[in-house]
Amino acid sequence: MKDWVYIENISQYVGEKVRLRGWVYNKRSSGKVRFLLIRDGTGLIQGVISSPDKNDPLFEKFDSLTQESSLIVDGRVREDKRAPGGFEIDIENIEIVSISEEYPIAPKEHGIAFLMENRHLWIRSLKQNAILRIRANIIRSIREFFDSRGFVLFDTPILTPSACEGTTTLFETQYFDAKAYLTQSGQLYAEAGAMALGKVYTFGPTFRAEKSKTRRHLMEFWMIEPEIAFAELKDVIELAEDLIEFIVQSVLEKNRKELEVLERDTKPLENIKKPFPKITYTKAIEMLKEKGIKIEWGDELGGDEETVISESFDRPVIITHYPAKIKAFYMQPDPENPELALCMDMIAPEGYGEIIGGSQRIHDLNLLLKRIEEAGLPREPYEWYIDLRRYGTVPHSGFGLGLERTIAWICKLSHVREAIPFPRMLYKIYP
Ligand code: 4AD
Ligand code: MG
Repeated sequence: MKDWVYIENISQYVGEKVRLRGWVYNKRSSGKVRFLLIRDGTGLIQGVISSPDKNDPLFEKFDSLTQESSLIVDGRVREDKRAPGGFEIDIENIEIVSISEEYPIAPKEHGIAFLMENRHLWIRSLKQNAILRIRANIIRSIREFFDSRGFVLFDTPILTPSACEGTTTLFETQYFDAKAYLTQSGQLYAEAGAMALGKVYTFGPTFRAEKSKTRRHLMEFWMIEPEIAFAELKDVIELAEDLIEFIVQSVLEKNRKELEVLERDTKPLENIKKPFPKITYTKAIEMLKEKGIKIEWGDELGGDEETVISESFDRPVIITHYPAKIKAFYMQPDPENPELALCMDMIAPEGYGEIIGGSQRIHDLNLLLKRIEEAGLPREPYEWYIDLRRYGTVPHSGFGLGLERTIAWICKLSHVREAIPFPRMLYKIYP
């Protein structure tokens, strides 16, 4: 007998006896036959118990099994075109590991508040399982993308003395007798990394105390941030296009099964090939006005506006040259019009909003000092960052990709909260 077989590999064992380890997903009886739907985290398989003897002890064990009871099952694998997954197992023995108490998430519809309260159990369900597998593959593909292009992984601190993306969304914490903040972005440190290593990327959790209750906001989310010395805005725009194409194609190639579980229409994803459409912020405002949206040049583009713009395109759209005054202090002004920043946001299709924000960075010492002052930021915690402009400063650029928004789009989820195992939401930190 082949011990410790995972359901995802079951096709290799047709006709053989195997031992599976897993949990009861569901069960039902039909006449003299009992059906046990078993999950093991890698897949689902139907186990069949049939015996001429109605006092067969296997029937008794079957009767005692509740949903999510854990068990070890021995049986022979059979190909069955009708079965979900294409295989069944004829059960010869069941060893019960633990009988589950009455499982709160029955196989029926539940409200979202209830499911979120039970997130630690909800992740066992088929769809959540598929999303988390796609997440893992997206992370793997992002690492592969940057590693294969010679970027050096550069870990930046979580506890920081200063803000990167504005002071209104900082989570504050005590750091001995000083104040510290949970990082909003690894960017400023990645800039130091780029000057040391040429091109780097950070990949870690970031935190924003955003009082936003939308389907796109988390308080804790993961961000991938490449930063490249000597790169200009156009270089990172191209990099962002390459990255998104690579991620989507990787999911299409490696997550067919999961996309099917999610009933994701893959046609819009097949489209995600370079080049992506590019428009300026000014053009975006014109487009919105033409569509009857009330907006003026200088206003921020919110989620609703982003959705309207994305409806005109069948792939991600890149918006560049926003007014400097609505963007971060570190962005390089456009030499042709210093009111504009050399920046770019990538807006996902299908209404998923901004997935990437990036820019060329200010490399001139005096200009940076001026911008820090204008932003009302204290200079002291940024001295090290200012130093980068004192010692061999060069133009440089980078961007940040929000992982959960990317997952939500690719999986076509109704909310980013399902794109991370344990989402941190406005006022909600349980479980
Ligand atoms: O546009 P943002 O704020 O850019 C930065 O943080 C830059 N420092 C990045 C850089 O240039 N290195 O955030 C980048 C991305 C957004 O496009 C979005 O995808 C995601 O991070 N993001 C969020 N995702 C979920 N919940 C939130 N509250 C998010 N805020 C930003
Ligand atoms: Mg942004």
